[in-house]
Amino acid sequence: MSLPKKSPTKKSPQKDAPPKKLGHLAVVTGASSGLGAEFARRWAERGYDVALVARRKDRLEALAAELEESSGVHAFVVPDDLSDPEAPYRIVAAAEALGIPIRVLVNCAGFGTAGPFVHEDSRRIADEIIVNTLAPTILSRLLLPALLSAPGGVLLNVSSTASHQPLPGIAVYAATKSYLTSLTESLWQEQRGTGLTVLALCPGPTATGFFEAAGSDAFAVGSVATIDTVVRAAFASLDRPDSGPTLTVGFRNRVTGSLASLAPQRISLAIAARLTSGARG
Ligand SMILES: NC(=O)c1ccc[n+]([C@@H]2O[C@H](COP(=O)([O-])OP(=O)(O)OC[C@H]3O[C@@H](n4cnc5c(N)ncnc54)[C@H](OP(=O)(O)O)[C@@H]3O)[C@@H](O)[C@H]2O)c1
Repeated sequence: MSLPKKSPTKKSPQKDAPPKKLGHLAVVTGASSGLGAEFARRWAERGYDVALVARRKDRLEALAAELEESSGVHAFVVPDDLSDPEAPYRIVAAAEALGIPIRVLVNCAGFGTAGPFVHEDSRRIADEIIVNTLAPTILSRLLLPALLSAPGGVLLNVSSTASHQPLPGIAVYAATKSYLTSLTESLWQEQRGTGLTVLALCPGPTATGFFEAAGSDAFAVGSVATIDTVVRAAFASLDRPDSGPTLTVGFRNRVTGSLASLAPQRISLAIAARLTSGARG
């Protein structure tokens, strides 16, 4: 697979404008759409060069051109399919070859499947497990030494409120996100005091391409947040000194998550099954 690199657009520096480029790299997966694209925009606004990862190369190239124009950073496209277990190794090799210190990893790529487990496509759920769990785990492991090499590194794993309880009807998706939240919380504790910020971001339903990719309304339970709300909340948490390991976005989502863990298991499972019933018919 080729790992094309986008040449930086030469821009004439504006007089008296503050220097934009820090010479630090943010690697963002899922950057072709939705939350990942917005995370890439915000890191670029903060002066980070960005490496944009997803399958749709045309979208990555369009975003790279936009970011170079708007933020004056270098934006590189790294098209790859994260359902290939080897993809994280290729992506890290490509990012390291850029020679820019890697300071940020945003694991945002992910997708959901829905419906009764017995009817789910076994190959699609295998891809879902790899993209949502194996890929962020290996990317985190491979890039952690770079993120730890100087204070101020960030590891942001985009999980979900679906990680807060088992969800019949979207069982595999919920299980993958439970894994990701659990992993990230452990890493938060392991890395305390190192200067690395680790965060499991748990948005509820958010207006992105996610529902279309999933082909189901089962995920759109309750109110749907905007991308801006979710990404702003994430950066507010990242900017707070000593923020916690997990951020659940939205008061109602936090209450629902707490109630799910307190309720008796049979009741909690029955309520969850009703909420995701759009996936069961
Ligand atoms: N939207 C929600 O309601 C919601 C709620 C909670 C959590 N989340 C999480 O937020 C994250 C971002 O999703 P989104 O809402 O922004 O949805 P989205 O607009 O569908 O974006 C998903 C991103 O993941 C990438 N991706 C999917 N499969 C991939 C693969 N095999 N290889 C490489 N990249 C792949 C897609 O890129 P390509 O298709 O170009 O490969 C796309 O950039 C996901 O982890 C999702 O689970 C979303």
